[in-house]
Amino acid sequence: MMESYREEIIPENWYNVVPDLPEPLPPPKSESEDRSSIEFLNRILPAEVLRQEFTFSRYEKIPEEVREMYRIVGRPTPLIRASLLEKKLNYSGKIYLKYEGATVTGSHKINTALPQAFYASREGVDEVVTETGAGQWGTATALAAAMNGISSKVFMVRVSYDQKPLRKTVMNIYGSSVVPSPSMETEFGRKILDHSMDHPGSLGIAISEAVEYALTNNKRYLLGSVMNSVLTHQSVIGQETIRQIEIEGIEPDVLIGCVGGGSNFGGFVFPFLKRFRNVEMIASTASEVPKFSKGSYKYDFIDTAGILPRIRMYSLGSDFVPSGIYAGGLRYHGAAPSLSLLVKKGRIKSEEVSEPEVKDALRFFAAATGIVAAPESGHAIATALRYVKGNLHEKRNIIINVSGHGNFDLSIFNR
Ligand SMILES: Cc1ncc(COP(=O)(O)O)c(C=O)c1O
Repeated sequence: MMESYREEIIPENWYNVVPDLPEPLPPPKSESEDRSSIEFLNRILPAEVLRQEFTFSRYEKIPEEVREMYRIVGRPTPLIRASLLEKKLNYSGKIYLKYEGATVTGSHKINTALPQAFYASREGVDEVVTETGAGQWGTATALAAAMNGISSKVFMVRVSYDQKPLRKTVMNIYGSSVVPSPSMETEFGRKILDHSMDHPGSLGIAISEAVEYALTNNKRYLLGSVMNSVLTHQSVIGQETIRQIEIEGIEPDVLIGCVGGGSNFGGFVFPFLKRFRNVEMIASTASEVPKFSKGSYKYDFIDTAGILPRIRMYSLGSDFVPSGIYAGGLRYHGAAPSLSLLVKKGRIKSEEVSEPEVKDALRFFAAATGIVAAPESGHAIATALRYVKGNLHEKRNIIINVSGHGNFDLSIFNR
């Protein structure tokens, strides 16, 4: 049984923005006539996730088992008034934090890993597989699989595997088998290692290995971001926030979050779209990955290897090689189709912040809130600080989605 105050705040349904978009969402496309990449999706995703990916229904019931797991991993996450931050900034309005770093895995990623692993296990699959760069997504997948009684395998980009051994340890504790990618476990990995034994790996290679592993071993592949179903699962963030501000009697004026593939941002802001028509929404990206300002709105591959279908989104090109910024989760070349459409229509604004400003913002924020936020979340925080400094005398209520903690990313402060 859930405690009643939590029962009240964790939503009963996920919200899918697709039917409420200003125009129909362009569907995914296969590259070639044989439609193979769309068929790959059919074979590797849990059937229920695939159905949710293409549904036009506005609400999807959250299974009771998943709601219960949400509670166990720390949902609802807190909405915190950052009053010391307001004072330090001399801001006339109020600042609130929706703190996704308070989940047991330390980020929002668990919100979608849990239902995906749940559906896979209910469909009789014994193992799920995915890739991870910085480790947040792999950690969420590892725990979600464990909680649903199935195994997991995570292909982890080799440089991160070597640089972040603690992340690997956490995944191992949850029972996951973590493989540095490129690996000898797939044909794709072996081919790369044939040419270069000490290849550092990339997210594109790791995705290709995970997808190949799922296809050849009849396992299910879990999606970390970008796709509609993932943003739908992440809508728990925004829906909880709306209930929390209702309880506190707060009117929202400005919502700020960071964008990698767009899942924490979409999950946070989309539930506000219909009811709060004047709320300002600001998507913060990395200047080093300027997808909205320098990318184009076009059909492009989801993954670097071009195995998965193409989707219509803002993209810098699936072969875009970002600089090695610390916010690994923001290095993705594109952004979710629904979010891309709303940016194109001007409903959502975007801003860019570079790593030095993010580092300063993280330090300033930590001293006023106690939270050492994830480098990705640091972009949202830096954008919020800029906003406040430019509007000191406004009395607007700002809500920042702090997507994760940075406890495994502390070396950003040493460089
Ligand atoms: C803490 C954190 N925030 C944000 C992101 C960006 O992803 P998304 O845009 O899908 O929320 C990531 C991705 O790895 C992350 O780990």
